[in-house]
Amino acid sequence: MEEIPQKLFADGTKVLLVYYSRSGNTREIARRIQRIVGGDVVEIDPVAPYPDDYHAVAKQANAELSAGYRPPLKTKVEDIGSYDVIFLGSPIWWHTIAPPVQSFLSQVDLSGKIIFPFITHGGGGSGRSAADIAALSRDSTIRDALVVRGDNAGKKDIIAWLSRG
Ligand SMILES: Cc1cc2nc3c(=O)[nH]c(=O)nc-3n(C[C@H](O)[C@H](O)[C@H](O)COP(=O)(O)O)c2cc1C
Repeated sequence: MEEIPQKLFADGTKVLLVYYSRSGNTREIARRIQRIVGGDVVEIDPVAPYPDDYHAVAKQANAELSAGYRPPLKTKVEDIGSYDVIFLGSPIWWHTIAPPVQSFLSQVDLSGKIIFPFITHGGGGSGRSAADIAALSRDSTIRDALVVRGDNAGKKDIIAWLSRG
């Protein structure tokens, strides 16, 4: 683990990093955060993988988001209740969090937990992701997200974000 300027969490705090990534950017940011904060890592894995072709996935994602469809997941988190802090990663798809992340949030109970969202995008920013995460995690404390274009955030950016608390 790399050095952080101040102690981030109290002793015994259990940290989970959970994210979806189709093309690797959000996975890469998750790895960089994990090197700093430690914790267990879970990648959200939809039962039906999304197409590699950009136009195909854009079309599918648009249809799913318009319909409010929550794709089934293979992912199960063991004993999610035991975690105190959740780092939640998603790419932006059509201005919001990707459907697999919406599925995840709708399946778990994160009440009482602290959520640190991290968001990657292609240049359009974080869209309505903060409001949509809040709507799916009503009784959690949600911090300001780390918002990253592509995977363009290094250790210094991550530490600055974490230090804002
Ligand atoms: C279906 C789809 C929709 C997207 N919609 C947006 C968008 O609305 N705004 C934006 O800035 N980037 C958008 N992007 C770009 C991704 O957010 C960006 O490439 C992200 O870093 C991908 O993360 P990943 O590599 O972890 O899958 C979209 C990408 C895909 C595949």
